[in-house]
Amino acid sequence: MAKRDVWGSRTAFVLASIGSAIGLGNLWRFPYVCYANGGGAFLFAYAVCLLIAGIPLLMLEFALGKRMDNAAPGAFRRIHPKFEWFGWFAVGIGFVIVTYYSGIMSYCINYFVYSFNLSWGSNPETFFFGKVLGMTDQPWELGKLQWPLLIGLAIAWVWIVASVWKGTKTVGKVVWFTVLGPWLLLLIFVIRGVTLDGAAEGLRYYLTPEWSKLLIPQVWLAAITQVFFSLTVGFGVMIAYGSFIDDKTCIVKNAWIIGLADAGTAILGGFAVFGALGHKALIDGVAVSAVVKSGPGLTFVTYPEIINGLPFPQLFGLLFFTMLGLLAIDSAFSLVEGVSAALKDKFGWSHKRSNITVGLFGLALGIPYMFGAGIHMLDIVDRFMNFFGLTIVVIGECLIVGWVFKASGMRRFINSHSEGKIGIWWDIRIQLILPALILLMIGFEVYERIMGPYGDFGLRSQEFIFGWLVIIIVFVASILISSVKGTPEYEGRISEIRKDIADRSGDTRGEKS
Ligand code: PHE
Repeated sequence: MAKRDVWGSRTAFVLASIGSAIGLGNLWRFPYVCYANGGGAFLFAYAVCLLIAGIPLLMLEFALGKRMDNAAPGAFRRIHPKFEWFGWFAVGIGFVIVTYYSGIMSYCINYFVYSFNLSWGSNPETFFFGKVLGMTDQPWELGKLQWPLLIGLAIAWVWIVASVWKGTKTVGKVVWFTVLGPWLLLLIFVIRGVTLDGAAEGLRYYLTPEWSKLLIPQVWLAAITQVFFSLTVGFGVMIAYGSFIDDKTCIVKNAWIIGLADAGTAILGGFAVFGALGHKALIDGVAVSAVVKSGPGLTFVTYPEIINGLPFPQLFGLLFFTMLGLLAIDSAFSLVEGVSAALKDKFGWSHKRSNITVGLFGLALGIPYMFGAGIHMLDIVDRFMNFFGLTIVVIGECLIVGWVFKASGMRRFINSHSEGKIGIWWDIRIQLILPALILLMIGFEVYERIMGPYGDFGLRSQEFIFGWLVIIIVFVASILISSVKGTPEYEGRISEIRKDIADRSGDTRGEKS
């Protein structure tokens, strides 16, 4: 077999992982989820989830990829062949996410063009929902195809596939530019956001937790899934990235760096958004919590608002949407890498063939979001993929690694690849605490849906059925693809590796089955 790709340098690995983590999740998803879940209370829950769940899981994924020398499906297969489908399920959920993620990139590309003459004018909200999206009243009213969005989507996909054309070598170089540039720009927006008239009220909403909100399980579910989404944990991506690291890379330290850099960017970006929300509340004479319809459109309303208040607004518009695009691109291509590394490992496909296949499918599946009903659909798919798909993956990952492979074995492996060491507390979290907590949160969410009203994602609503249908399709596809035979290399090395794992972890069960 061709030698496995390895990162050009250790910094390339860290930057690529940070690049994957920091993306639209930080500046597009984090603000609206935070706003919808009570601002300060959510922020607190987010920080807790990052520390108890996000960073430990990041270590688990890097270690799993490195230990098994494979992307997600192959890695799970090497724990036990009957778990291969689970790895495909994880990358499948990631793939569904990239189909709408690229849609948001298309919004950014369009806004880049609108920046030339500030087309959003003095009412960015009306402009976004009316002119850009042609939004329909409800998801089942398809509306018109928005041609500029479709063109943006095609550009996004060409850009994504071009960026990963040569595997880790291109990725390692591209990320220098896509990670460091945006940070500088973000600072400017934060400074402007917090100095707008009325910003203080917005910041108060952002930073003051209403403690009673922490008793609402949905706030915690929203927080933990935002942490996973933002760290790109639970999509097989970090498993694939982990599989490319060399023996000297310190897993523990890097997981901390990546986790804190990612959260820091989201929290910092929040200052800009909530400053702008406070400003808008002042102008409209309403409370911050009521100022805009919360949801995936928030970013495209608040940032143009900030841009309008800057000197040289055109210039800042161009810079801002360039920055968003750059943040998004390395996240999007990491998802493509996650899927295409799995296809290469299993079927021995060439790099180009895997990337082009993923790109074409991604583009085709993204087209429905470019209609008037697109943003409704995007919202439904996003919620279901994160609330149910992603959480199922994380629970499974904890159980399979924690109990079948054995958490203690993985911890020893992590420690042998790290200067800083982790203790038994990690095992307990992976084996028990995280699966139990997440299951509880999902349980509350489903209960709420069952007891809640029919509409608005209620159990019998079309949204609920549609959301689950997408998850079931990913599930069936994973089973099918795992039942197809892979290359002899993929099939063959398995017994040898499993024996090695069993010997080293002192666990002989793997050998018997
Ligand atoms: N972590 C990325 C972000 O915050 C999003 C992402 C999610 C990327 C899933 C890949 C996979 O934008």
